[in-house]
Amino acid sequence: MGQIRAFPPDFVWGAATASFQIEGGRKERGEAIWDAFCRWPGKVVNGDTGDVADDHYHLYRDDVGLMARLGLGAYRFSISWPRVLPEGKGQVNAKGLDFYDMLVDALLEAGITPFVTLYHWDLPSALQRLGGWAARDTIYRFVDYVGVVADRLGDRVQHWITHNEPWVVAFLGNLEGVHAPGWEDAGLALQIAHHVLVSHGLALPVLREKSGEQAKLGITLNLSPAHPATDSPEDRAAAQRQDGYLNRWFLDPVFRGSYPADMAEWYGYLMPRIAPGDMEIIARPIDFLGVNFYTRSVIRHAEDAPFLKVAAVSPEGEYTAMDWEVYPAALTELLLRLTRDYAPAALYITENGCAYEDGVSSDGHVHDPKRVEYFRQHFVASQEAIAQGAPLKGYFAWSLMDNFEWGFGYSRRFGITYVDYATQERIVKDSGLYYASVIKANAVEA
Ligand code: FCB
Repeated sequence: MGQIRAFPPDFVWGAATASFQIEGGRKERGEAIWDAFCRWPGKVVNGDTGDVADDHYHLYRDDVGLMARLGLGAYRFSISWPRVLPEGKGQVNAKGLDFYDMLVDALLEAGITPFVTLYHWDLPSALQRLGGWAARDTIYRFVDYVGVVADRLGDRVQHWITHNEPWVVAFLGNLEGVHAPGWEDAGLALQIAHHVLVSHGLALPVLREKSGEQAKLGITLNLSPAHPATDSPEDRAAAQRQDGYLNRWFLDPVFRGSYPADMAEWYGYLMPRIAPGDMEIIARPIDFLGVNFYTRSVIRHAEDAPFLKVAAVSPEGEYTAMDWEVYPAALTELLLRLTRDYAPAALYITENGCAYEDGVSSDGHVHDPKRVEYFRQHFVASQEAIAQGAPLKGYFAWSLMDNFEWGFGYSRRFGITYVDYATQERIVKDSGLYYASVIKANAVEA
């Protein structure tokens, strides 16, 4: 400690959320696949739902005030497709569109730059009934939806993220079955990953047209270095497969227009159907890559494991309430590898953060020293990557406030702001105060 590491003067400091996780306002929108998934017994802890969440739909003005007090320069949020188009297509819900319009205006008035994610997992149920992302038609419905949103917001929003974490959409939702829609079929998951990527590429020209040539367009991937558990050739090959599955399967098509050959061979008959022209569409140029980083994975060969024949091991170390290892060096490693292998025009960390068990102390504050330390170490790791040449332009903390953590319901708290779900009171945690001080200094103490 003691050394001050400064960030570039134009570095963007923000916080992130997602529509289903914070908005509530269920009666004021159409049904999402996550609404249905929450009703599936045993899928979501406590049977929690997104009906109310942080009630951000009604409290957004206060929440923008909170962001301003933290000194945020940017806010990443997502649009709920079923709020804009309750049936997924056709009739627009004018009030839904108005909500995002007012949110964007409130942000701009507060001097906060909106970064808008178009798909953070809340597919309209009406489209799921027609096959969801397994149906090629959903690609075109997504592009129409993007057109509706960009028509309304494109004059003010200059930063767009087409998709959040296609790997999670495809594999947690359709192979592991722990996310909506809850299926367990590897071939289906691979086809879905492909359709999501094609929809990303097809949305780009629509966003350009409606937001202007200067608009910055990107996609957010969840990326995580895979380290072999031992030096054995089997474990090293297993780590390579994990890297192919999680990282390269998405990076290669987006930046190089092809799926990685080693993985295509591994998947064999499970490979998706790729229509002529698809790979060119996926590889259309983007202005930035969004990186969601939480941890690394340590991988061994596991002969009996289905699909990939890999298993994760848990080395000694510090773990968060998600059981994710705290390993900030992997963030520097990842950012430098992306720079070297894919030469992105720009990088943003669009999510980074941690869950710990928080509570309000008798002094009325939320003391979360482990989260403060997690953030500090990851700021240092980010600064180190910049110093070594990574084109990292900004950082978004996950999350602005505690929220619905998918299959974990409200049992995991990632916020830099504590939310009392009974009263909807927000209390900035010590980590939020710490973050505000880093933003103000534009520097971190290493
Ligand atoms: C990411 C998601 C985000 C949040 C964090 C903890 O995978 O994008 O919505 O749940 O994990």
